[in-house]
Amino acid sequence: MISFDHVTKRYPDGTVAVDDLTLEVPDGTLTVFVGPSGCGKTTSMRMINRMIDPTAGTLTVDGNDVTKVDPVKLRLGIGYVIQSAGLMPHQRVVDNVATVPVLKGESRRTARKAALQVMERVGLDPQLANRYPAQLSGGQQQRVGVARALAADPPILLMDEPFSAVDPVVREELQTEILRLQSELHKTIVFVTHDIDEAIKIGDKVAVFGRGGVLQQYDQPARLLSNPANDFVAGFIGADRGYRGLQFRHATGLPLHDIRSVAEPEIDGLTLGPKDWVLVNKPDGTPYAWINADGVTLHRDGKSLYDSTIAGGSLFRPEDSLRQALDSALSSPSGLGVAVDDDGRVVGGILAEDVLAALKKQRQQ
Ligand SMILES: Nc1ncnc2c1ncn2[C@@H]1O[C@H](COP(=O)(O)OP(=O)(O)OP(=O)(O)O)[C@@H](O)[C@H]1O
Ligand SMILES: [Mg+2]
Repeated sequence: MISFDHVTKRYPDGTVAVDDLTLEVPDGTLTVFVGPSGCGKTTSMRMINRMIDPTAGTLTVDGNDVTKVDPVKLRLGIGYVIQSAGLMPHQRVVDNVATVPVLKGESRRTARKAALQVMERVGLDPQLANRYPAQLSGGQQQRVGVARALAADPPILLMDEPFSAVDPVVREELQTEILRLQSELHKTIVFVTHDIDEAIKIGDKVAVFGRGGVLQQYDQPARLLSNPANDFVAGFIGADRGYRGLQFRHATGLPLHDIRSVAEPEIDGLTLGPKDWVLVNKPDGTPYAWINADGVTLHRDGKSLYDSTIAGGSLFRPEDSLRQALDSALSSPSGLGVAVDDDGRVVGGILAEDVLAALKKQRQQ
């Protein structure tokens, strides 16, 4: 466990970067430090591995005051990932990943072999092992950074805005990846970001910092959304927190409605009225598109199908939350969200009003 007890950091020029921080990061959990630029996230994190010493208060790791532990020893048990990935440019990817095991005295050969396995673990093609960091994309470099931190198998992982340098799609992939890894590895992770959506997606708990390095709230993501401690937190979370809070509500028992649908080969000769929406399914039962038409007859190979085809909205899958259920209904051109089973086959339709009714019921329980 990492424990901050009334920890303050005042830099020599008088700047108070962290102000009287008290917070515990339990073993095996992922805690996110989030807040605007300059609120002391990096300073708080760097006090954990003693790259920065506190001015006042006590910071312990597994009960030991970090200022009384040999910093080199301390850091061997703490992986550290930074925004730019911080790779050594003149070393091949595999040797970057193998850095700490080699420092710990493992033979280069054993360490390289293990490095290839860790690379696979974080979704990197082992064929990239012999490249230099500059020959990788930004997202690949970030993965190498994560692989390097994992290679030493430290119980603690510190990650300072590790995904901020990549595009939103890659960023989402990396977030999902870290969640998958964490479900297998159960590390104690402190993750810094200024992106509240990222914090809410990946954090078991989220610490929201405000100006002057003052902790504003430390809570589970669902609680942050439903019970922000003050105006600062509410403002930082953003206006649509009610909608986003639905992601923490299960959608079991949501009624499924009949959807008028046709298999794709049957489109030939189908006649639709102006307000009719029909879901076209592929022969395997997975959805293809919603179509409607102003009374025209559709032809599979004719232009009219494509004129009146509208790609469907988002799909609702068995494990999804009420948020996804509502989104599927709202994004569907027919107003009926498409629910699919584990194999992607259409099982029914979802109405927005049922989502709101389910929410009301859950609130009353
Ligand atoms: N070495 C230093 N000397 C003086 N002030 C510093 C020093 N390092 C950081 N600060 C100040 O401490 C405050 C907190 O900095 P810190 O880097 O912890 O913020 P942060 O929350 O990580 O910000 P960002 O989101 O921009 O990375 C800032 O006001 C910063 O200017
Ligand atoms: Mg920072």
